[in-house]
Amino acid sequence: MSYDVWELRSKEFPWAARGDAIYLNNASTGPLPVRTVEAQSSFTALRAEPFRMSDELQFGTIARSRALLAGLIGASPDEIALMVNTTYGINVAARALPLGEGDTVLTFDREFPANIYPWMALAPLGVTLERIPCRDGLADEEALLLALDRPDVRAVTVSWVSFATGYRVDLGRIGRACRDRGIYFIVDAMQGLGALTLDVRECFVDVLACGGQKWLLSPWGTGFVYVRSELVTALEPSSVGWLAMRGSEDFTRLVDYDFTYWDDARRFEVITLPFQDFAGLNASLELLVELGPRRVEAYVASLVNMAVAWTRERTGVRLVTPMDPQRRAGIVAIAPADPPKASARLKQFGISHSLREGAIRLSPHCYNTEAEMERALEVLGAE
Ligand SMILES: Cc1ncc(COP(=O)(O)O)c(C=O)c1O
Repeated sequence: MSYDVWELRSKEFPWAARGDAIYLNNASTGPLPVRTVEAQSSFTALRAEPFRMSDELQFGTIARSRALLAGLIGASPDEIALMVNTTYGINVAARALPLGEGDTVLTFDREFPANIYPWMALAPLGVTLERIPCRDGLADEEALLLALDRPDVRAVTVSWVSFATGYRVDLGRIGRACRDRGIYFIVDAMQGLGALTLDVRECFVDVLACGGQKWLLSPWGTGFVYVRSELVTALEPSSVGWLAMRGSEDFTRLVDYDFTYWDDARRFEVITLPFQDFAGLNASLELLVELGPRRVEAYVASLVNMAVAWTRERTGVRLVTPMDPQRRAGIVAIAPADPPKASARLKQFGISHSLREGAIRLSPHCYNTEAEMERALEVLGAE
């Protein structure tokens, strides 16, 4: 059984219920549900009159964020550090993992740059980022697996889902191969989490970074990094926050300067964080939990399937995203004969999408309807 999309639209996405737009661009920015805007606004209203705030409200809010995020990925709250975007989380991995002279980090070519530059920046330390070339434009997992037996390979970092092609990496397969060889496995989950469900332990992930602003339908300025519990105490943060230290918990004795990190992932947080935005994230995650992450996953897949099936029946369009449902998430990329022209036409008819790497990218979420997908495909197919 799925949830009631129409009820969801009228309660949480009234602009969609009114038909103001057909928004199929969640891979760029997810809309904020009504409850999220309300949570942010009421938090901000208290902040406007700070005597109404309490430490409990501030720190209780971010503790709840850690718990909700942990629940979403099969982790423990102790393994979650809140970040303000994906990139900060990737930097935690790049800077805290013990990488040095002669070490190689493997990734796929054509990754989103958030998962490239932080690793390229390690070049002065003698660390090389090697990009495994794509096959037919998609991540070549076989080639990556073959490269794992080289002694110089110390870490693998991949996007769970490619921003441009929508290709979904088999995290479990790569994660297991890495763990068996003592290679660190880092995941950028930005284009996956929310459209897909995940268990980090089943996939042998060491570090996972994700921002809230797309598939988690959350405010800008929210995100997190998961660090596997066994690694937390082994890693030292490169950016050192004052609340990363155990001693800072007692606000009456801050200048004791006890340099002892928390032995959970809070050691990686650089506080102060945007509390009001994390209040918003909590509301969005509660919505996803209410809908049921697996139901959302199945519903999003059904909308993506419509576009995949449509490309099979047409000539003159090429499906960039893989046919295999196990290799897809919430992104479907379609290359028509003239992508910029098709993009302009979609825009003209009020259909939000993206033009990425020569293809039209449609990315439906939990609140989109079949009728919206049909309309987008009709406009895309019009000469
Ligand atoms: C795979 C991937 N990672 C990361 C990001 C963004 O990173 P950040 O949250 O740091 O802006 C995007 C898109 O904007 C993306 O597609």
